[in-house]
Amino acid sequence: MAAVGRVPLIAGNWKMNLDHLQSIAFVQKLAWSLKDAHHDYATTEVAIFPPFTDLRSVQTLISADKLDLAFGGQDVSAEESGAFTGEISARFLKALDSSYVIIGHSERRTLHHETDDEIARKVAAAITHGIVPLICVGETAADLEEFGPSAVPVAQLTAALARVPKATDVVVAYEPVWAIGSGLAATPEQAEQVAMALRAVISDVLGAGVASATRILYGGSVKAANIASLMREPNVDGALVGGASLDIAEFSSIVRFLKHVGT
Ligand code: PGA
Repeated sequence: MAAVGRVPLIAGNWKMNLDHLQSIAFVQKLAWSLKDAHHDYATTEVAIFPPFTDLRSVQTLISADKLDLAFGGQDVSAEESGAFTGEISARFLKALDSSYVIIGHSERRTLHHETDDEIARKVAAAITHGIVPLICVGETAADLEEFGPSAVPVAQLTAALARVPKATDVVVAYEPVWAIGSGLAATPEQAEQVAMALRAVISDVLGAGVASATRILYGGSVKAANIASLMREPNVDGALVGGASLDIAEFSSIVRFLKHVGT
């Protein structure tokens, strides 16, 4: 279990799913489902990451209904403003009350060829605007074979933190690429081994105090059936959930992992 002082975070990455109308119905149902189950947001924080076009609707609903859900974008520009067609500035995300932003997801690294340096600049842009970056790192199956379990995630995180001022709040997600959308999650032992190595990186770069306060999530085929065993590991402080975050019953059950840690 996460150490005392680190509130577990369950984050739903919707990817390119649900338009703004669907997002409203979905968030309402999710909030009802968690309310019915008496979910205590103080013990487990919940964040959702809808597409950019949904954010205004999600913000309006969450503020009107005073929901405890946090939210943010799935990506952000490293630039402040200007001639960057299609890009979204951290300032715009902050203006919509985003608390977090996902940066460096493997689909961005692979499909959009994002480099470690670009990711570091995005992380810095988010921090400048008071948004907590949720930094994703993870190795491919080939990396795992060639370099072992921690080398690539450690190198990616070291690069991503290059421009982060000391004592800054960040969230890290370890997402092995081979586990994303594959149905084959890392074992709790594998997740713990890499999470521990990532915490050591944070300690080296940002100091021991920040390292012990930073949430390190696991992502990749997280389901209601495997969350409890992952969350039993001391360095795993939550999950970044893709596919299962689009199923309200499944996602609610993941959020309520404390109810089934004993099972
Ligand atoms: P998955 O995706 O839960 O569908 O494996 C996780 C992610 O890509 O963040």
